[in-house]
Amino acid sequence: MSSVCRCKVADGELVKAAVKARKLAYCPYSKYRVGAVVVGASGAVYTGANVENASFGLTVCAERIAIFKAITGGEKAIKAVYVAAKMPNPCGACRQVMAEFMRPDGKVVLISATGEGRIRRVETQTLKTLLPHAFSPAGAGL
Ligand code: THU
Repeated sequence: MSSVCRCKVADGELVKAAVKARKLAYCPYSKYRVGAVVVGASGAVYTGANVENASFGLTVCAERIAIFKAITGGEKAIKAVYVAAKMPNPCGACRQVMAEFMRPDGKVVLISATGEGRIRRVETQTLKTLLPHAFSPAGAGL
């Protein structure tokens, strides 16, 4: 699958695409590969992987890379995020960025995968579950 695909993609394909996206992680410091797939409001699909930096704090997570690709690809909102990692739990910063563009009932699919890309477990959550009481633009009247 290319990084932007405008066709309707089945859930299983999106899970596989998130696992595949891990291959493009730039993570020489942590060696911890994370892949992400975002489904935009248009139905288009965007992929991302974590990109680290020798100045560690400049590292950007896979989820935010995929979300920013979606937004700069013309999406106004996102419908779902798929995250593949050994321990696929989006960090707090990524959850907050999701809340900027996704409804509280938006789907976050957590894919636990081995280093070789074997899928161990797939769990679907809502953003509301992962980030209750979110600081949202609508809630803050911004
Ligand atoms: N990382 C992500 O890409 N997403 C997350 O939600 C958590 C952490 C990356 C950042 C860093 O490159 C590596 O995982 C180890 O923290």
